[in-house]
Amino acid sequence: MSEKPPIHLENRTESGDKKFSPTAANNRAPISEVLLPLLSPNARVLEIASGTGEHALYICKRRPDIIWQTSDPDADSRASQNAWAREAEGRIKSSLDIDTMQEDWMHDLAEFDAIYCANMIHIAPWEAAIGLAKGAQKLLKLGQICVLYGPFKEGEKTAPSNLDFDASLKSRNPAWGVRDLEAVKHIFELHGFNLTQQTAMPKNNQILVFKRA
Ligand SMILES: C[S@@+](CC[C@H](N)C(=O)[O-])C[C@H]1O[C@@H](n2cnc3c(N)ncnc32)[C@H](O)[C@@H]1O
Repeated sequence: MSEKPPIHLENRTESGDKKFSPTAANNRAPISEVLLPLLSPNARVLEIASGTGEHALYICKRRPDIIWQTSDPDADSRASQNAWAREAEGRIKSSLDIDTMQEDWMHDLAEFDAIYCANMIHIAPWEAAIGLAKGAQKLLKLGQICVLYGPFKEGEKTAPSNLDFDASLKSRNPAWGVRDLEAVKHIFELHGFNLTQQTAMPKNNQILVFKRA
């Protein structure tokens, strides 16, 4: 039987269905500092590529008003998300099987006020980023936001560590790679979004906020 291709590049541990991401343990506090003020009261948030589900729980514990929908195409990740979600008193909904490369992934979904996606578009084919922008256009209304977190390339300004990361991703899968910020901005603009905030984060990551225009 062929082995499942990797969906992350870190050493995760687990206990039952719960998986522990060392990266999420480090970045969840700085991410929540930037993300929480962007979310309106009682916001309904759709998270794409929720991974272990630890970002969802961390953020929901800090904002008892919000409702969070996790998702991931990977079944083990969804099981982990659901296991962590049990600590959120029903505010994190049962994880959905969403793959943004599927044409109709956004159909039949409930209404959301914001979309959040961390560390996905570099570890998936470019079509996953295009699908994310396309779905966000269908799901979000004027003024609502799609928030991306991760490393990006910015020409000569690109951090050397992100160039190394890009090469290492491409050596594993030529369809992966740290994305050019301008290219990401371009596909979101094509789908009706403006980049309204760009925040530098630890370890040469960034948060990009795309607002539906
Ligand atoms: C590096 S992990 C990031 C997980 C989490 N967001 C975090 O930052 O800890 C990448 C995740 O992207 C998911 N993924 C890969 N391709 C995807 C796609 N086309 N649509 C949605 N999720 C995808 C994987 O299953 C995996 O859980």
